[in-house]
Amino acid sequence: MLTKAIGALTMPLLLSLPPETAHRATIAALKYAPFLPKTASPPGLAVSAFGLDFPNPIGMAAGFDKNAEVAGPLLALGFGFVEVGTLTPRRQSGNPQPRLFRLPRDGALINRMGFNNDGYEAARARLAARPAAGIVGVNFGPNRDAVDRVADVALGVKTFAPAASYFAVNVSSPNTPGLRDLQQRAAFDELVARVAEAREQAAPGRPLLVKIAPDLDLRGLDDVVEVCARRGVDGLIVANTTIARPESLEGRDNGEAGGLSGRPLFESSTRMLARAYLRCGGALTLIGCGGVEDAETALAKIEAGATLVQVYTGLVYRGPALIGEILDGLARAVERRGPLVALTGSRAREWAANP
Ligand SMILES: Cc1cc2nc3c(=O)[nH]c(=O)nc-3n(C[C@H](O)[C@H](O)[C@H](O)COP(=O)(O)O)c2cc1C
Repeated sequence: MLTKAIGALTMPLLLSLPPETAHRATIAALKYAPFLPKTASPPGLAVSAFGLDFPNPIGMAAGFDKNAEVAGPLLALGFGFVEVGTLTPRRQSGNPQPRLFRLPRDGALINRMGFNNDGYEAARARLAARPAAGIVGVNFGPNRDAVDRVADVALGVKTFAPAASYFAVNVSSPNTPGLRDLQQRAAFDELVARVAEAREQAAPGRPLLVKIAPDLDLRGLDDVVEVCARRGVDGLIVANTTIARPESLEGRDNGEAGGLSGRPLFESSTRMLARAYLRCGGALTLIGCGGVEDAETALAKIEAGATLVQVYTGLVYRGPALIGEILDGLARAVERRGPLVALTGSRAREWAANP
């Protein structure tokens, strides 16, 4: 109730500010607002995945809390988990501004932030200082000018071993030149082998996930699934932003370079999720991400094969009330149709067959 009221008051103001200013203001408000209302997870939404117990399956996607500043407040708002990052070993400023664009009529964003972040050490210290409650995954990737990209990623495992509930390796941002090439079979196999070895040394058994691009073709998806299953990766996050530009986009900034997120990403990322689900045969746990903006789209991700679901762009347009709305809608679905685990993948074949 209070979350709804706060959202109703603040969202028009935030959406009238330039997008990056609005984002900075939101992070500051979350950081310094002790009055934040707490949202409890409705009963029946608890989920177990890769050895962790989530109070509900809805998570904050990477890129919102890049520097691990507000994981606690985001959990208090009702998220079942938070993924911080993407972090790189050394601080970097990212691409020149403007680099974040709203396409309100499309319910979409285009960003080419370019991994602007404070670096591993600052985030490690912040995570070490926070209370241990709640599931916080850490997403990391290489610096733009890395000499050895795989070493940058392996260092992430070592650095965040004391603090991360799970590790998420980002090989799918379109805004670091050449990064997505790490998804190609030989490079990907080497990356995953070295990261899995780092995990064995620094944090045996800690869940290791890989976040993939929605633009992979089916052969690329086959390769990713095969390598991950063989090398003991626990899960995939499907998916990051897309470099595709559907013709239907109406926003003035639809020609900006970068990754497109939100409503126009929903269909393609859900189809890819279903295809990943059918290929995994249960060997990998899937997090569905892309275009979730209400309870129906969250449920669709679960039916397509997701055990957990992440949101970013929907929150930008709908505000914090979206979290409670999704949780209530899922709770009603569970009452009507049975536990979430039974719904996972129930419509994967239909989604995978979508042209
Ligand atoms: C402004 C912005 C910054 C992002 N930064 C990252 C990032 O640093 N690392 C990452 O893995 N994904 C990043 N993402 C991608 C999101 O985590 C998510 O995969 C994508 O936006 C699709 O979800 P959505 O449609 O709910 O936004 C970013 C997205 C946006 C909109």
